[in-house]
Amino acid sequence: MSQDYNFPNGFLWGGAQSAYQTEGNNYNNDWYEFEQKPGNIKNDDKCGESSNHYGLFEKDHILFRKLNHNSHRTGIEWSRIFPQENKVDTEEIEHYHKVFESLKKNALKSFVTLYHFTIPIWFERKGGFLKTKNLRHFQEYCEVIAKNFPEIEFWNPINEPGVVPLMSYFYGEFPPGRKSLIAYLKVYRNMMKAHSIAYNTLKKFNPDSQVGIVKSFPYFYQKYHGNFWQRKVTSTLDNAYNQVAIDAVIKGKVPFVPSTYKNWMRDTIDYFGVNYYDAVYFRFKFGLPVALDFKLPSVTEVTQMGWGVYPEGLYENIMRVKEAYKGPIYVTENGIATLDDSKRQEFILQHLLQVHKSIQEGADVRGYFYWSTLDNWEWAEGFEPRFGMIGVDYETQERKVRDSAKIFAEIAKENKISSKLIQ
Ligand code: BGC
Repeated sequence: MSQDYNFPNGFLWGGAQSAYQTEGNNYNNDWYEFEQKPGNIKNDDKCGESSNHYGLFEKDHILFRKLNHNSHRTGIEWSRIFPQENKVDTEEIEHYHKVFESLKKNALKSFVTLYHFTIPIWFERKGGFLKTKNLRHFQEYCEVIAKNFPEIEFWNPINEPGVVPLMSYFYGEFPPGRKSLIAYLKVYRNMMKAHSIAYNTLKKFNPDSQVGIVKSFPYFYQKYHGNFWQRKVTSTLDNAYNQVAIDAVIKGKVPFVPSTYKNWMRDTIDYFGVNYYDAVYFRFKFGLPVALDFKLPSVTEVTQMGWGVYPEGLYENIMRVKEAYKGPIYVTENGIATLDDSKRQEFILQHLLQVHKSIQEGADVRGYFYWSTLDNWEWAEGFEPRFGMIGVDYETQERKVRDSAKIFAEIAKENKISSKLIQ
């Protein structure tokens, strides 16, 4: 039976990317420093010029528009705005004004991130997000941004509040390379505080802007499908990684944060951003989760990141958010790193069908952002993984529109997945 899968009117279609991963020539943050040490990054790659989006943003935006995108998720690099403590670089403010004007000119609704894993070196030296008293610097950054960019409609200040605590402070694979459970908990708590600081600050200056959270949701498979014990253990881990962020922005509840903060943290979202890549699987030994796989045992093929593909997890996550939160939902990241673009095409279609299913079942999903528009710097994995719908030749900075981008363009134009496309 052939069928078209229509999306709601006004649905947003676009790509997502972050400042550091695409801009190039950022030499004043913790990642730049981290990359200088041999062994920290695969192949000892350095972000350097990356995709030079800083220099090529106008051309890129024109290309996104030609590909029928009507929105774009991007970011501001904190270390450009505040190269030193208490010092604002007005030329960089000007630069981002031009970026947002160009997005507007190309009819691309902008979703803007303020913190996507990178912090200025001076902030790092002060202890970064590990020190609660440092949050006042983040607040100052939010204030400068709020005053200077009233034109922005959608903010998602903190990208994935759980990832940096985990990768930087628990696994030690991102800067500053710490391995401590206490530090994980502390930084996660401060990330949630930083989110509410950003929410309250941005709304104070621009009450009409929409400020959301962007949360990465690995799907903890055994929480739902494991045996009794696995379900119990995995639920606890899921609470510590996924549920904690939902509870913070909706109920104002964060472990180890006194309840006096509650009112201040509660209801600090105007939309929920879901980032989704994969289902994770814990290997148990003597009842304890001793290892974590980024794929289910039934999945044989993995992406360049070693992650398995499990589209149903996106549906499950959207429905989970829908249960907890009555406002709008956006898929703010979903993508695959592969050298075989036919896999990307399939990935996009399969995941969009899951988004469609969730909408049919009442979820208020209003947009989908593929990660990533352009090939870009993949953190500790360097330049090897290719996430882009648009390929980048890092030697020449030439852009190559992949077939997946063309399929996405067709879907965006029609606001539907046609039966022809499925076939
Ligand atoms: C992050 C991106 C990253 C992507 C793929 C997301 O969690 O927001 O910065 O490139 O995952 O690893």
